[in-house]
Amino acid sequence: VRLDCLAMASLEQLLHDRLAPAFEDVAGAPADPTLRRSQHADFQADGALALARRLGRNPRDIAAEVVSHARLDDLCRSVQISGPGFINLTFSDEALAPLVAEMASHARLGVSRAEDPHTVVIDYSAPNVAKEMHVGHLRSTVIGDAAVRVLDWLGHRVVKANHLGDWGTPFGMLIEHLLDMGESEGAHELSQGDLNGFYKAARIKFDADDSFKERARNRVVALQGGDPQTLRLWRLLVDESEKYFLAVYGRLGVRLTEDDFFGESFYNDMLHSVVEELGRIGLLTESDGAKVVFPRGFTNRDGDPLPVIVQKRDGGFGYGATDLAAIRYRTQELKADRLLYVVGLPQKQHFEMVYEVAREAGWLVAPARAQHVGFGSILGTDGKMLRSRSGDSIRLVELLDEAVSRAAVSVEVKNPELDGATRANVAQMVGIGAIKYADLSNDRLKDYVFDWKRMLNFDGNTAPYLQYARARILSIFRRGSISAPAGAPVILVTEPAERALAIELLAFPSLIEDIAESLEFHRLAGYLYTLASTFTKFYEHCPVLRSEGDVQKSRLTMSDLTARVLAQGLELLGIAAPERM
Ligand code: ARG
Repeated sequence: VRLDCLAMASLEQLLHDRLAPAFEDVAGAPADPTLRRSQHADFQADGALALARRLGRNPRDIAAEVVSHARLDDLCRSVQISGPGFINLTFSDEALAPLVAEMASHARLGVSRAEDPHTVVIDYSAPNVAKEMHVGHLRSTVIGDAAVRVLDWLGHRVVKANHLGDWGTPFGMLIEHLLDMGESEGAHELSQGDLNGFYKAARIKFDADDSFKERARNRVVALQGGDPQTLRLWRLLVDESEKYFLAVYGRLGVRLTEDDFFGESFYNDMLHSVVEELGRIGLLTESDGAKVVFPRGFTNRDGDPLPVIVQKRDGGFGYGATDLAAIRYRTQELKADRLLYVVGLPQKQHFEMVYEVAREAGWLVAPARAQHVGFGSILGTDGKMLRSRSGDSIRLVELLDEAVSRAAVSVEVKNPELDGATRANVAQMVGIGAIKYADLSNDRLKDYVFDWKRMLNFDGNTAPYLQYARARILSIFRRGSISAPAGAPVILVTEPAERALAIELLAFPSLIEDIAESLEFHRLAGYLYTLASTFTKFYEHCPVLRSEGDVQKSRLTMSDLTARVLAQGLELLGIAAPERM
């Protein structure tokens, strides 16, 4: 068993290490082999094409020369030049088997912990107090949770920052509405999660009643001035909403807790010094009475520079000022070197401008970097923004309840033998898992259609399919009353379906590394789906319980390894996987 900290080389890396020196020999300078997975072989190296252009030579000749310079005989059973000069590489079975054995004996499935861990602040979820969480907050919560899980598993220091919208002018009307209702009535309504009703009622009064509007305005001034009674009422609104949000997080099974609320108000005390520092550095400009910064490189359609508003004409601070304070706090106090902002695409420009101001102010200095982890919208099956039947934004709890009750029906159809308690438990995992997976399996930058039928289907790239695939592997062991072989694993790779599974399994470690950087969780989802389908073919073609001796040991180990990778992959996506279903 190898030590935890030793990296397992990926198949791609092994080939790269052999091909890169050969390319360099031929090129007289470093040249990238450009490896990719291939339909015709295990991998394909396309580097000869670019190199041929560079040297003005025939790419097939280059490919042949590279191959004659590379030592590949101990790794590959076939190396062929095809088409315009691709190098097709097929691993030998003898090379694959020990790698699979090594992965199987590794508790972390070949994925090493980061040698040089980063401090990563992940800004996600961030709903607004006294307002319903909308599906955009659902996306942020689910994607951010997957980022937390992957980076934490890789050994980075992860700080979860729930940038709650808990400050600003709407609190004037919200507090006055609370007073009109009576504190205990209002608190009750909020903690029950009737946030839409509360917010709307306040808004209607604000728009219709001038004296209410006046009270609301005065209340904002009292809030900003730190009036104790006003602050107490504000805190009450925030506390009740937080209770509701925590209930949603609990249902979703995400890692956010009450310790992770770093709402906008958290940064209030830092805002004056942000203004002061920006002024001192010479970045502040007056514009229409407001204090603003014009970050380099941002203009509107007419070519005029775009500002980040730091302090409004009335002295108040806005969203941008808070984000500047937050970025400074995160790099300077928390010593973060990577900042992730999991927020919808409409706010992309806002963040890019904030990052640029922070860079110019010296608050975001390499190697520290900020990354906007944007995402598209969730659409209904009609192709429009997802809404409830009444046209309101959907209440998340209701959506989650519906997922679980629909899942209960499909689970019962799939396996009528499960006892009631198990079924309820499985329905929970399938329903919530289906919603999360539907989100994570789509390219986050694109919109996706929220479709109950598709996400709860047991066939296809869905949570239930993967959960079931994993449970079915566990059931092989149960049926055979057999456990995964102990001790140094014996792996034999001979059948085509076996080697296909081996190649797929071995792709896991480098994929996780890639995802930690790109945060393209749909690639992890797609990988798990391919792995499960590859396993199905393996299981059809390679008898497991009906085989014997070392062949059986090897197949049991590969089955167990597949189940472990599936469970770990789902876990990284935040999806629970039942033992039986
Ligand atoms: N509360 C905001 C919204 O609902 C999202 C906050 C995102 N995070 C941030 N640091 N600005 O749109």
